[in-house]
Amino acid sequence: MSKKFVPHLTALAVAAMLTSLVQSARAEAKGQRPVVVWFTGLSGCGKSTLANLVDHRLHSRGVRSFVLDGDNVRLGLNAAPALLRERHGDDFARRFGLGFAAQDREENIRRIGAVAELFAQAGIVALTAFISPYRRDRDAVRAMLPQGDFVEVHVRAPLEICEQRDPKGLYKKARAGEIKGFTGIDDPYEEPLAAELAVDSANTPAEQLADQVLAWLERAGKIPPRS
Ligand code: ADX
Repeated sequence: MSKKFVPHLTALAVAAMLTSLVQSARAEAKGQRPVVVWFTGLSGCGKSTLANLVDHRLHSRGVRSFVLDGDNVRLGLNAAPALLRERHGDDFARRFGLGFAAQDREENIRRIGAVAELFAQAGIVALTAFISPYRRDRDAVRAMLPQGDFVEVHVRAPLEICEQRDPKGLYKKARAGEIKGFTGIDDPYEEPLAAELAVDSANTPAEQLADQVLAWLERAGKIPPRS
């Protein structure tokens, strides 16, 4: 619509018109429903691997999706204090940088939830892969989203297996006391009580787990059936 013909439209009215293209209409235009698929589990359980596989599968079916995980979020939006200090100074880094204390994790998950909600509103399946160890923080994201739009996927693997894998060598450091408050070692992981889906990443190849996630999303009508 050209402004020339509607000279009395205020900026607010224009914004209201633009946002009236509601999220469900955007998503449904692509044959999908707004959804946040929230992968949670211990460090090294395979959350990111699984989320990325699901992302590829969705892509090959023509469903738009995006993965939010530590590799993109904890370096940018939720950067650590040390990453912010040089450019923004000490005070700023202390206030806005995020580490792994309980409140930092709470804010990490709150921000990720808010971003995931925006992706869902844009009609993009948001796949998040974070430990998100505290039930209260995951439930807060669930409560923020419209009912049914938050799909919690518990990526289950016993601590011993994750510790054996130790892809970043962090469990070893945590056991040696070089990292304090490491999830599963000296900070809790609170398992979901009623996740929409729990997958066994200790005994099942990631490809099969991705199939399980896709099947769940299909059954729930979140994505169109494979054509
Ligand atoms: S969360 O607890 O806030 O959800 P997030 O998923 O963003 O954590 O980041 C977890 C990753 O950060 C781990 O896989 C690990 O590589 C690294 N990490 C560094 N310190 C810790 C810690 N104290 N506890 C858990 N993970 C940590």
